[in-house]
Amino acid sequence: MASVDLENVTKRFGRTEVIHKMDLTIEHGRLTVFVGPSGCGKSTLLRLIAGLEEVTSGDIRIGGESVTDRPPAERGVAMVFQSYALYPHMSVFDNMAFGLKISRTKRDEIKNRVRQAARILQIEPLLDYKPRELSGGQRQRVAIGRAIVREPKVFLFDEPLSNLDAALRVQMRLELASLQRELDATMVYVTHDQTEAMILGHTIVVLNAGRVEQVGTPLEVYRTPINRFVAGFIGSPEMNFLKLEDGAPLPKPTAPEIVTLGIRPEHVILGEGPLQGRISLVERLGSETFLHLELPGGGRVTARASGDLSARPGDMMTMKFPSEHLHFFDDEDRKIQA
Ligand SMILES: Nc1ncnc2c1ncn2[C@@H]1O[C@H](COP(=O)(O)OP(=O)(O)O)[C@@H](O)[C@H]1O
Ligand SMILES: [Mg+2]
Repeated sequence: MASVDLENVTKRFGRTEVIHKMDLTIEHGRLTVFVGPSGCGKSTLLRLIAGLEEVTSGDIRIGGESVTDRPPAERGVAMVFQSYALYPHMSVFDNMAFGLKISRTKRDEIKNRVRQAARILQIEPLLDYKPRELSGGQRQRVAIGRAIVREPKVFLFDEPLSNLDAALRVQMRLELASLQRELDATMVYVTHDQTEAMILGHTIVVLNAGRVEQVGTPLEVYRTPINRFVAGFIGSPEMNFLKLEDGAPLPKPTAPEIVTLGIRPEHVILGEGPLQGRISLVERLGSETFLHLELPGGGRVTARASGDLSARPGDMMTMKFPSEHLHFFDDEDRKIQA
């Protein structure tokens, strides 16, 4: 178990810089999730930590020791990919044992470690099977098992559940969380899915275009996003953003630099208050209903309501934005305390 430190890490592919002078500490024994839109540099960061890519400049330390110049096999990390990357002609046992054989681990030791990992992942009955005989979820377990047997200091997961269907993804997510607790391991988990990040992460690192926007617990980034990007990326459906110039009787903030107001759909109070909007769309999910509303000034608001709310497109609806749930942003999308 070890912490990971990135110091002033820059990565360029040719002339394109994709990671910009990044400083980041990943705490040991915790599950840290990198989340951000596609192309923001999540996989590149994991590959830099794993040693599958070289940094252009800067230093990476694992457990306090610089690994920047060490090959992947000498970094004490194990990576699990979205594509599983299993050897099709090898049995589950041999797939899991492969890395240990390469590093000349003794046969009995290999057997013990594979059996123990298989027990943790509940794939003991599958050890003689070939990958093609397994379901997607079972294959992903084998890929995770291959990482476990190496007893790495740090586990790196690159969108490992993206190829699974929704129900299996939910189940594997729970299993990964309990695996992390059982192994007391340092894990870095990459996803573009903010829901997955919120559910899994002890710490969330929100990334955007090769930079860290914010680091915090799930509730910290949800409650106190430091800028409009984080405010919009974390939370589903997305926070509503309203330009103050849009007219409409929006709450007036005190600070003059504020140009945008933010309110989450779940914080809009319906059926009372000073604002009125026309319902343009009603999304019924059963347990809840999302109303899409148009304000007189042209602003649009999504509001969460109960599943049995009676409302139809075209209806008018009153609403209010409680001041304790308002977020304010300046013209550079920074969060402003008002
Ligand atoms: N081997 C490569 N050569 C050139 N550009 C790359 C390479 N790998 C990634 N990139 C670029 O780096 C950026 C970040 O990519 P990536 O780390 O894969 O993002 P993410 O995993 O967040 O979707 C993208 O613009 C991508 O096109
Ligand atoms: Mg990626």
